[in-house]
Amino acid sequence: MSADLVSPTYTDALDGVAPASLRGFFVGWPDPPTPQTHLRLLHSSYAAIVAIHDERVIGFVTAISDGVLSAYIPLLEVLPEFQGHGIGMELVRRMRDRLADLYMVDLLCDDDVAPFYERVGGFSPARGFSVRTYSMQSGAAHDS
Ligand SMILES: CC(C)(COP(=O)(O)OP(=O)(O)OC[C@H]1O[C@@H](n2cnc3c(N)ncnc32)[C@H](O)[C@@H]1OP(=O)(O)O)[C@@H](O)C(=O)NCCC(=O)NCCS
Repeated sequence: MSADLVSPTYTDALDGVAPASLRGFFVGWPDPPTPQTHLRLLHSSYAAIVAIHDERVIGFVTAISDGVLSAYIPLLEVLPEFQGHGIGMELVRRMRDRLADLYMVDLLCDDDVAPFYERVGGFSPARGFSVRTYSMQSGAAHDS
């Protein structure tokens, strides 16, 4: 199907989202979370917004937060076949609106994605630091 015709539904209601509708994400991750773990992290987030098309999640964004002052946006992804059609921008704008009552909203990104956040608007470049423990990448250590 051509992605030109896609106009997804955006929602923070995860009730209808099943693991099977979450396939294909974490592209390029050597040890990606399973769809079950992906669904668990969506439910565990302070805020999560998904883009749904044909009963399938084609994009998502999450935020974690203290709910008082600060939030962090750790994950944003649009399935490759649906990229380039404004879905990522819509997800980030909706998340920014969702977090509008907080003082600070931060995210980290690779240099090649920086122009995307410049296009979204409202974000300023900032210096960041990070730690990655690749043996924990799948999240399986926290599966119950
Ligand atoms: C980054 C990502 C979410 C963008 O989603 P998308 O739906 O393709 O983005 P959009 O179609 O909303 O793009 C909005 C604008 O940003 C531009 N853009 C999108 N991705 C870009 C990138 N990686 N670099 C530079 N510009 C980009 C688009 O060209 C578009 O510009 P336009 O309005 O002038 O046409 C998507 O490419 C993705 O999932 N990448 C892999 C995961 C990732 O890198 N996530 C970010 C983690 S910080």
